[in-house]
Amino acid sequence: MCGIVGVVSSKEINEKLFNGLSNLEYRGYDSVGMCFINNKNFKIKKGVGKLEEVHKKVNFLRLQGNVGIGHCRWSTHGGVTKKNAHPHVDCKNKISVVHNGIIENYSELKDELIRQGHKFYSQTDTEVIAHLIEDNLKDSRIEDAVKLALNKIEGSYALGILFADAPEKLFAARNESPLIIGVGGNENFIASDVPSILSYTNKIIYLEDKEIAVLTKDKVKIFDLNGVNKNKKIHAINWSAEAAQKSGYKHFMLKEIYEQPRAIADTLNERIRNSDVVFEKEFNLKNDFLRKISRIVVVACGTSWHAALVGKFMLEELAKIPTEVEYASEFRYRHPLLDNNTLFIAISQSGETADTIAALKEAKKYGVKTLSICNVMGSSITRISDGVIYTRAGPEIGVASTKAFTTQLAVLYLLTILLAKLRKTLNEKQVKVMIEGIRKIPLQLQSVLDEDYEILKCADLYYHKLNSIYLGRGVNFPIALEGALKLKEVSYIHAEGYPAAEMKHGPIALIDKNMPVVVIAPHDIYTYKKVLGNIEEVKARGGIIIAIATDNDDNIPKKSKHTIFIPKTLYTLSSILAVVPLQLLAYHIADKLGYDVDKPRNLSKTVTVE
Ligand code: AGP
Repeated sequence: MCGIVGVVSSKEINEKLFNGLSNLEYRGYDSVGMCFINNKNFKIKKGVGKLEEVHKKVNFLRLQGNVGIGHCRWSTHGGVTKKNAHPHVDCKNKISVVHNGIIENYSELKDELIRQGHKFYSQTDTEVIAHLIEDNLKDSRIEDAVKLALNKIEGSYALGILFADAPEKLFAARNESPLIIGVGGNENFIASDVPSILSYTNKIIYLEDKEIAVLTKDKVKIFDLNGVNKNKKIHAINWSAEAAQKSGYKHFMLKEIYEQPRAIADTLNERIRNSDVVFEKEFNLKNDFLRKISRIVVVACGTSWHAALVGKFMLEELAKIPTEVEYASEFRYRHPLLDNNTLFIAISQSGETADTIAALKEAKKYGVKTLSICNVMGSSITRISDGVIYTRAGPEIGVASTKAFTTQLAVLYLLTILLAKLRKTLNEKQVKVMIEGIRKIPLQLQSVLDEDYEILKCADLYYHKLNSIYLGRGVNFPIALEGALKLKEVSYIHAEGYPAAEMKHGPIALIDKNMPVVVIAPHDIYTYKKVLGNIEEVKARGGIIIAIATDNDDNIPKKSKHTIFIPKTLYTLSSILAVVPLQLLAYHIADKLGYDVDKPRNLSKTVTVE
């Protein structure tokens, strides 16, 4: 939650800091602030609201200098007020701190510091850090004071720290919150993510937990909390800066929905060779192990958890491996039963979700093999797990996840083929059919996108409704959950996803002529006829049916008010096609309601706190 950025340069930095912060706003947008050093003094501007709103009042671009830090806040400790907005300073206004994370022992530290005479002005946990460093500066040099202070802190932090008396330096540190260092020419950066500074550099150093960095314009020095110097690799990132821009779309969410044919094609690229699935060397799991797996446990949160549910269906149905799916936040506090023949999979777009990281660490304690499915190269879960499969969605900026989800499904599908082949649960002919099926998906997705005008019509008619129900069965039950989540997130309309037949056991009481019911009903040999029955049940009670059906289906349009068609594909792959109209429906409804689709209220793109 919260975004932090910092620059130290030989040149004026105000535009770079402003742009970096603007790219990070998806992480938090209830308040914003910046601090520059001028003549050994801080110039700080901050306020409540989104960056543009506060900028109109305070004009951030008037701040000038060669060293600065910025912050956009998603509040945890302390209300949304100007006083609680970052940066936070010490008593003498000589230390300025921006922070993403939660200091768990801040209350004890604050009491102690108050006893020693420190004066606090905010309700945040962050302010403690500034005072704690100030306290340690009494007897130590700056670097030691930072180190000593961080040794006393419990909890998560990504920090940018400035010292008015060291105007050529920018300090950074991390523990369990994301922070990267960008290495430029005669300038260096810190940021919560890579895309925010991609216009300035693609050379990235990943800071590890409990590491501190001191950046000057031409040097980056990194050491750990014991003061041991670290030699770090510089990674060249191949995402383009343009990929992180809106490219003419009104919102990132819309752009990212439309990018899905390309994102899936990239995710498949070079991974299918004839009828084999080949992952890159980071996959790192041996065939012998994959043959003897007796169970798979998948953890994730939110949309990634929905992808895991689709994955369970694929893995059990086709690779015949018992698969359990858990919320990462629940798994982390259990004492799970894991053994050497379990494969543990963590799915995360960002790779920085705190609960998913914690669940992965918990699983590792049991010595099981771990695999992450992730979109962000070098992110925390990819560094902790034994193996990685990257989705190649490109930077996903919209808070509501879209292309990350469908690329996660594509990766799970490829993994299923790989396992099914190794374990001989599918024959060559069946594998060939599966491979042909996924190869067609990018083009088929394009034809789903071409139906956008039909979806827009539905949005026009129903954007003022207060509730809605999403129904699906089998592999498309998680798609019903995902469709409902998308609508809730961006339009604030109450939406529930159910397995279609479960509706009879309670939710059917909600259905009347005011209730839009989205039914995912592709033609299949499993439950199609049953879903037709479920549609009748809704119709009999006056519900407004919006159905997702397979091209040329004659039955569904007769029973539904609206039908959105998707191309014919394999049952497991229908989930990838069926979710796209639901993403578009949520987008158009939110846009019609005039909401800030890319920055929905109360949300943050990456939930780096528990
Ligand atoms: C998706 O639209 C949500 N914003 C959210 O549920 C998200 O999927 C969840 O927080 C998990 O994020 P991750 O994939 O980056 O771990």
